[in-house]
Amino acid sequence: MSPRRTPVSTAVTAPSPGSTQRIHLTASGVSVVLDVTDGRSPAIAHWGAALGPLGPEGLEAVCATAVEPVPHNAVDVPLRIAIIPQQCDGWIGRPGLTGSRPDDSGWAPRLVTHAISLDGDLLTTPHAEAGAALVRADLADEELGLEIALEIELLPSGLLRQRATCTNTADVPYALEELTVSVPVPGDADELLDFAGRWSKERTPQRSAFTVGTHLRENRRGRTGADAAHVLHAGRPGFGFRHGEVWGVHTAFSGNHRHLAEQVNTGSRILGGGELLLPGEAVLDPGKSYAGPWLYASYGEGLDEVASRFHRHLRARPHHVDTDRPVTLNVWEAVYFDHDLARLTDLADRAADLGVERFVLDDGWFGSRRDDTSGLGDWTVSAEAWPGGLGPLVDHVTGRGMEFGLWFEPEMVNEDSDVARAHPEWVMAPSPDRIPLESRHQQVLNLSIPEAFAHVREQMGAVLDAYDIGYIKWDHNRDLLEAATRGTGRAAVHAQTLATYRLMDELKAAHPGLEIESCSSGGARVDLEVLERTDRVWVSDCIDPLDRHQMNRWTSQLVPLELMGSHIASGRSHTTGRLHTLDFRAASALFGHLGIEWDLTQASAEETAALRSWITLYKDRRDLLFTGDLVRADRGDSPLWLHGVVSPQRDRALFTLAAVGRSDRSQHDRLRLPGLDPEAIYRVLPLATDARTSSLIPPRWMQLARESAEDGGLLLPGAALMVSGLATPLLDPEQALLIDITRAEAS
Ligand code: DGJ
Repeated sequence: MSPRRTPVSTAVTAPSPGSTQRIHLTASGVSVVLDVTDGRSPAIAHWGAALGPLGPEGLEAVCATAVEPVPHNAVDVPLRIAIIPQQCDGWIGRPGLTGSRPDDSGWAPRLVTHAISLDGDLLTTPHAEAGAALVRADLADEELGLEIALEIELLPSGLLRQRATCTNTADVPYALEELTVSVPVPGDADELLDFAGRWSKERTPQRSAFTVGTHLRENRRGRTGADAAHVLHAGRPGFGFRHGEVWGVHTAFSGNHRHLAEQVNTGSRILGGGELLLPGEAVLDPGKSYAGPWLYASYGEGLDEVASRFHRHLRARPHHVDTDRPVTLNVWEAVYFDHDLARLTDLADRAADLGVERFVLDDGWFGSRRDDTSGLGDWTVSAEAWPGGLGPLVDHVTGRGMEFGLWFEPEMVNEDSDVARAHPEWVMAPSPDRIPLESRHQQVLNLSIPEAFAHVREQMGAVLDAYDIGYIKWDHNRDLLEAATRGTGRAAVHAQTLATYRLMDELKAAHPGLEIESCSSGGARVDLEVLERTDRVWVSDCIDPLDRHQMNRWTSQLVPLELMGSHIASGRSHTTGRLHTLDFRAASALFGHLGIEWDLTQASAEETAALRSWITLYKDRRDLLFTGDLVRADRGDSPLWLHGVVSPQRDRALFTLAAVGRSDRSQHDRLRLPGLDPEAIYRVLPLATDARTSSLIPPRWMQLARESAEDGGLLLPGAALMVSGLATPLLDPEQALLIDITRAEAS
């Protein structure tokens, strides 16, 4: 039996000069209630479904009702989990801020709020309510000599983001080890979903129970990673695309980083994230600061709503790409390192004839790079491969009305390169005498060394100045193991990541309109910070449409379709060896920024004609694809996957039914098409109807729709499409069917 204890008061004495302030932000169906009781470090009393207007009393009530009881054998005040969780509040889990002074003191901070501003105006009232807004809390531990600027922003999409900047105000250094920000999640968000993966199989989902302890996804690769957590979700058990409350976080950083889901033994739960700092990477001299990355947090009823907040946020940015995403031909799988002007101009001609709008020359055009063992880092056009320079090809491509794009891998070198020979000290290494293990025969060029940065910047700038180049495919093909500045041995992943961002920013500023694709051994650099300066990601080196159905489906949990490079490759996949029909390859690639990665000289006349019509279809629908809402149907474990895009006005939609396996059943759940208007009447038209099926007679609606194709398809009420659904055609494995939906004009 528990010992009797004297009840404790829940009125906590103020530890600070600050006062009590409570703020309610609300946007797009989401509410965030910030609680700064007695000037303590800000905590989130509520993050989730919108609460409606609260007023001062309501705000007080929400904060009061969030105060947990005090159990036995814990601190004698209610536990309060701050956004930067700290032991001084009774949090026994992972602290948000860790570090120490040279004498080993200073590791137990007590941050106190000194001032709060809302969209730049100092808050002087105890209660505030606003829509989408930026709250800035100035925190300090005066005794310890630390200040934290904490930014908490609710964006118009309902996406919440938070970041913290730590400044050392004492006169001795502070060795910052970790600065993690977090959000609370309810005790019944019992199930976790995040992602793993490997080269050519990125973003594979994994579900687990949210148990006591820390589900910690640490990344020490120096890049976002093929196995990145991507978005770490906690939700009500069994949550799906369209149902179940879900809370998800994404750490927006392209270097070492972490995501975590933590439950302490009392049941309190948080999701959090931040940069993973290596020893010494953030030793703050007096007056110096460290700025952590944004932690984005998205709440929704189902995964589609979580995804839609990321998409709407990205689409609302002024620098977001337009919807005319150019059909792209990348030559990698067509020619690899075999660069030959005649062959490439022939490819360009075939591409232009098909309606391709951007032609990208991949790896192999520079230095001694005739294969992947040599020349990386020497960004001058190879006279051996390109005796006349790139001009003849660029002119040919642009003369055919296409944009020219070029591959770079700016952060890397082969040891067998002019730059590595001239500057071995620019190659990352833990000691002067030992370099890291090679990976793809390459090492990392240390862009945090100003001279190395300037060298790459100048060489790339010269190529961009010399030719009419509108697009860079920016690659990054190895992990940063033992990534240190040679000579000092100091870890340099943090500095390298920031230098890469700066290089991208400078090149873009100097070349207005330049677009960059983020590629990293395929899809190993997909995060929201690299997407602040790049215009699409390469989802994976695996273009096998079966695998791409899964990878695209989950990449789009964070990234909208227009930012996902999605190509039609040759019939036999270069990565898996599997053979697929052109229709299945194309139907898979259509939901993304479409491209081709195929030696078109090998395509038959029939394939070329089919490819042309797929390109036309993409051009006709790209406005819908890149402005519409992504919807993914919950179909249990059926191998017949259904996803689509619905226009914001719900007057147009395009769905794909894809058979990613062979079912045990010959009849399936009906196709319920999510996201439409149940009150509207739609015309329904199946496309790509040559898909193989294993039925003698197709579903009746398909027959009727075909018969009414001239009128635009079969007339059906939205409710029938959404609620009762369409009988599912019995697609054979690795076949796909498109369903085109248009609102019928009112007669
Ligand atoms: C890895 C990329 O993912 C490929 O698409 C290709 O660009 C190669 N690198 C080139 O080396």
